[in-house]
Amino acid sequence: MDEKQILQKLDRIREIPTLPSIVFELNKQLQDPDASIARISQTIEKDQAMALKILKLVNSAFYGFQHKISDIRNAVVLLGFNAVRNAIVSLAVIEAFGKNTRLKDFDITDFWKHSLAVAVTSKSISLKIRTNSPDNCFIGGLLHDVGKVVLVQYFQDLFASVWSAMQNERTTFYEAEQKVLPTHHAVLGAHLVAKWQLPQGLVEAIRWHHDYQPGSQNADFTLIIYLANVIVNSFDEDPECVIDLSALHPDARKFMVNALENVGDWYAGIAEEIGSAHAFFLEPK
Ligand SMILES: [Fe+2]
Ligand SMILES: [Fe+2]
Repeated sequence: MDEKQILQKLDRIREIPTLPSIVFELNKQLQDPDASIARISQTIEKDQAMALKILKLVNSAFYGFQHKISDIRNAVVLLGFNAVRNAIVSLAVIEAFGKNTRLKDFDITDFWKHSLAVAVTSKSISLKIRTNSPDNCFIGGLLHDVGKVVLVQYFQDLFASVWSAMQNERTTFYEAEQKVLPTHHAVLGAHLVAKWQLPQGLVEAIRWHHDYQPGSQNADFTLIIYLANVIVNSFDEDPECVIDLSALHPDARKFMVNALENVGDWYAGIAEEIGSAHAFFLEPK
């Protein structure tokens, strides 16, 4: 199979997770200049299970509001439309993929731990340098590797060949994919997210998260996701590590040195937030 055939096969898979219809409805309303808080809150409240989860999320340590928020309207006012929509996408995606048990060598909990760490790191970079929406950065980080789950669940033979190449040659997952596949998880993930009709900037950030290209329309968003992934991978392997700057794209190198100065200290400072994201999103149901 070449890349095109793999993507066509992906399009034909019926049981592939879709986002709940509430996400599409909210997307439509968010583009409508006349959308009101009341209407958006009503849309969320129609999905009661989701509304409850959103309230739990805004009242969790992850957001850390001091007062209890007891209705969706308040949650929308406090967090903003975009943040609420992204929280719904996060909860829905983790639930849809996390429940599947057809996973062999792949630990789905570790996968989401990594993804959530990249999500919080991306959001924190965005807050620190005041570019891009922190909520979009969170969702970009959360979904950046979603193509890996697509591989493991729907292309098990391809996944198995990547996994053994990775073990035998002691490479990263991405390096192994480049050796044995005509495509890789970033292409598959971007394809899936485009099918979900999520914003184009997100599709691009996922597509280029291993292969940052300067000059494209959403380059700074992609750069944040790319860099967050490098930071998380480096420090999770070795908390005392020194990131190999020569291996980074020059734009990312400049950006990291200017914006984050001592990246090790900075990353240690967001450890607690990463911990509360893990606690909330991965708690046993
Ligand atoms: Fe990746
Ligand atoms: Fe990653």
